[in-house]
Amino acid sequence: MSSSSVFSMSVCITLLATSIFLFGCTSPEGNVADGQRWYRMHNCYACHGDKGNDGGGPKIAGLNMGYRSFVHRLRNAETPIMPIYPQDKISDQDAADILAFLKSLEK
Ligand code: HEC
Repeated sequence: MSSSSVFSMSVCITLLATSIFLFGCTSPEGNVADGQRWYRMHNCYACHGDKGNDGGGPKIAGLNMGYRSFVHRLRNAETPIMPIYPQDKISDQDAADILAFLKSLEK
């Protein structure tokens, strides 16, 4: 094998490793309008209110929460009250949209 092909192969491997790393670490970009649609569709408003601060449940308008914690919160029950939303109900992308929507709301 020539040294240049060894070089291009290692460049390839480096790029591959970098993209796997980035894929694992970045959060999907959220879309506010879509987020509002999922928020309604999954009945979040029934407990958290239409504006995220006018329901019987905790206020989540202007939510100050990172993407990872938010997804973790959706997927894992912390109390028996809030339902859990697995990946097949709310995808990672939909979760990012909902989070963007919540962050866009006034507290
Ligand atoms: C049946 C009522 C109910 C529904 C429906 C519901 N929640 Fe909740 N949610 C709660 C309650 C009660 C809590 C606080 C206790 C807990 O953490 O379980 C909570 C907590 C949360 C928290 C954590 C807030 C904080 O400050 O730590 C987030 C974020 C959240 N809900 C988002 C959502 C989203 C997004 C949806 C829709 C996909 C949703 N909830 C649907 C009742 C509900």
